[in-house]
Amino acid sequence: MTTRHFLTLRDLSSDELLAVVARAGQLKAAQRSGELHPLLAGKVLAMIFEKSSTRTRVSFEAGMAQLGGSALFLSPNDTQLGRGEPIEDSARVISRMVDIVMVRTFSHDTLERFAAHSQVPVINALSDDYHPCQLLADIQTYTEARGPLAGKTVSWIGDGNNMCHSWINAAALLDFELRIATPKGYEPNPAIVAAAGGRATIGHTPEQAVAGAHLVTTDVFASMGQEQEQAERLARFAGFQVNHPLLEKAADDVLFMHCLPAHRGEEVSAELLEDERISVVWEEAENRLHAQKALMAFLLNV
Ligand code: CP
Ligand code: NVA
Repeated sequence: MTTRHFLTLRDLSSDELLAVVARAGQLKAAQRSGELHPLLAGKVLAMIFEKSSTRTRVSFEAGMAQLGGSALFLSPNDTQLGRGEPIEDSARVISRMVDIVMVRTFSHDTLERFAAHSQVPVINALSDDYHPCQLLADIQTYTEARGPLAGKTVSWIGDGNNMCHSWINAAALLDFELRIATPKGYEPNPAIVAAAGGRATIGHTPEQAVAGAHLVTTDVFASMGQEQEQAERLARFAGFQVNHPLLEKAADDVLFMHCLPAHRGEEVSAELLEDERISVVWEEAENRLHAQKALMAFLLNV
């Protein structure tokens, strides 16, 4: 059987994506009822982190323990990855010893090279270009609260970054309209937009993007690796804050999501982030746990 990887959302078909999200819901219910579900007993997950993380690390590590397996945290600081051992060699060695690998890195090319040399499934736990695990949780969160995303309107406000790219992929797979508003010069990759076949449109006016939207989502102005651009981006992204006045133009039952960590007073107002009638960010964060458990079970065919 060929090894399946999850480097972008588009490594899954629409049906597979919906099945993983449905399984995530079942695993969430089982977890909440105290039911044990050791689907991955004896399996080992290697977690390679070249960037910081709270949610991703805790959700994968806790999730693997709840599935009866175990997880190893590997950082470049204390492995040979940080001393220049080629990624291709690291992939061949690590994948002979574990059952599944997740990688958080800078260049998406690093993930593709790792996967090309891995005997076991490789999961993208965030690259500069994509964050597909976050989208599994986001789709689960919207679906639990409001039903399927198909036919809905979603607004992305802010940077055309890794999260935006993964939302574009989701729009293509799940057939919803994604309206993106970025400052000029911060648009998403045109090739990723083109591959979505018209489901994602780009503009520069947040008010237009949120008009009638069922879900509004955003992310930090400066992502990991862009810290030196923070001051310039704060100026360039003026007017791109998601807050209550902006959402007055959205649908009455609009939800707000943010992958977190959030910068209150920058991309989102503190009041909106804490408004639990609209903001579902804490459920969204929890769903990382359930969605990734379902993803690992899918990739390991259990
Ligand atoms: N949303 C997310 O991936 O958070 P972490 O960076 O804390 O993992
Ligand atoms: N776009 C952000 C997401 C963090 C989860 C980053 O890449 O830093």
